[in-house]
Amino acid sequence: ARKIIIDTDPGQDDAVAILLALASPEEIDVLGITAVAGNVPLSLTSKNARIVCELAGKANVKVYEGCDRPMGRALVTAEHVHGETGLNGPALPDPVMTLESQHAVDFIIETLRSHDTGTVTLCPLGPLTNIATAFTKAPDIIEKVQEIILMGGAYFEVGNITPTAEFNIYVDPQAADIVFKSDVSIVVMPLDVTHKVLVTKPRNDAFRALGTKVGKAVAEMTDFFERFDKEKYGSEGAPLHDPCVTAYLIAPDLFSGRHINVEIETQSELTMGMTVADWWGVTERTPNALFIGDVDADGFFALLTERLSRL
Ligand code: BDR
Ligand code: CA
Repeated sequence: ARKIIIDTDPGQDDAVAILLALASPEEIDVLGITAVAGNVPLSLTSKNARIVCELAGKANVKVYEGCDRPMGRALVTAEHVHGETGLNGPALPDPVMTLESQHAVDFIIETLRSHDTGTVTLCPLGPLTNIATAFTKAPDIIEKVQEIILMGGAYFEVGNITPTAEFNIYVDPQAADIVFKSDVSIVVMPLDVTHKVLVTKPRNDAFRALGTKVGKAVAEMTDFFERFDKEKYGSEGAPLHDPCVTAYLIAPDLFSGRHINVEIETQSELTMGMTVADWWGVTERTPNALFIGDVDADGFFALLTERLSRL
């Protein structure tokens, strides 16, 4: 199984991404979950991460608290999308499991140092603050990372928090810039692909029909989560942004994209956090990321629903 660290700001779609990973121990070995401030403040994201582990019946997973704000800006949150708790929708009990005492950034550094080069993959599902802080504090770990598979950015779909920026990149553009310039092999799940994995009514019914606590909770989470995109974009259902990352670990063939250059706007207030993606190869800039553009959505939901049934 591939060893990963999930860096996250749950978030209903983060929650589904975590459930998919925890349901797939043959392919994915979750070394730890690191929480970051994003959709909601850190105290809630670190709590939500534990709620999700307990929902999965995996209270033994280690959860760490990381950075409570972006590297150089004030925190922007997204309660308008995710609700006040970040996990609005299902009524889930407060977690019994406790947080690890180590800081998430130190956990990331120590884990990479103690593993062989190229054996640990980072899976960021929120702003890139924890990852970039670890790279800045301990540059020796950068070459040890096997791959970064992240949700963030957009090209044709442009932005969801400003006209030109996707939320995760917008919240901490400085951190994103550090990550995209790190020379680590990066796979990006931008809005272009995540807006193609929509929880339509039949797909939501399929979660509920599992007849399990997890199936019901995922149906209720996606019911709540779809409001925003439905009202705003007339979308057919909740976009499962973050689960694209963990699905890619299990079934990369569901996805396709282009190896291109991606740079992050960190200066202009107008286009702050824009992922400037050279999709058409119009510059000489060196490709630094596999930018995913397409997905077999039916295959994705078949995989997700089957895996959730295992929890
Ligand atoms: C991303 O922002 C958050 O609201 C979601 O959890 C996802 O990671 C989508 O832009
Ligand atoms: Ca997220």
